Amino acid sequence: MQLYLDSASLNEVKQAADLGVLDGVTTNPSLIAKEGVPYSKRLEEICKVCSGPVSAEVIATDFAGMMREGKEHVKIAPQIVVKLPSTLDGLKACKAFSDDGIKTNLTLCFQPLQAMMVAKAGAFLVSPFIGRLDDIGQDGMQLIRDIRAIYDTYGMKTKLLAASIRHTNHLLHCALAGADVATCPLKVITDCMKHPLTDKGIEIFVNDYKKAFGG
Ligand code: E4P
Repeated sequence: MQLYLDSASLNEVKQAADLGVLDGVTTNPSLIAKEGVPYSKRLEEICKVCSGPVSAEVIATDFAGMMREGKEHVKIAPQIVVKLPSTLDGLKACKAFSDDGIKTNLTLCFQPLQAMMVAKAGAFLVSPFIGRLDDIGQDGMQLIRDIRAIYDTYGMKTKLLAASIRHTNHLLHCALAGADVATCPLKVITDCMKHPLTDKGIEIFVNDYKKAFGG
């Protein structure tokens, strides 16, 4: 499974890249709003650190506006993926960009049929949001399983990018369900390598060695 960082923080992108396991980055308007820098400048900076796909979201909600903004985003770097909402206008923009050879990420996907439609329109990525469904008492992970089943049944090539991941248990179950990619906050990525028994085991090994050989 590929691992993307879900962040617009350059510092976090650098930290994730340093781990050697960063396959791409996703950003969104809320994430860039926290940064206080122009979106295009930050995307350019991120693309210098991460050579994998970097999703740049449009703010426009109408087809013409999405096309205008998306065309500006792709001028920034070759790995930019235009992130569009999973609406009817987003679907049309997805088809238009795909026909032009521009990669898209269809975001805010909350039901399997949105994923089926955007795959038909040629989306490169679809982003089902797990955490936000869990937040309203629904089963976000079931959405991942349903999309996987539809895509596999019909041989649909769109990559299933699990998003709105809150903790490592989400990530584990995405991997088990066959998500192609998961986009996570930095903490979830670093938490993957943490276990109290690993820390305890290191402590025991170091102490035993020192007792036997000194130092
Ligand atoms: C995905 O591309 C989104 O940026 C993101 O995963 C949203 O997550 P949230 O629900 O934690 O805001």
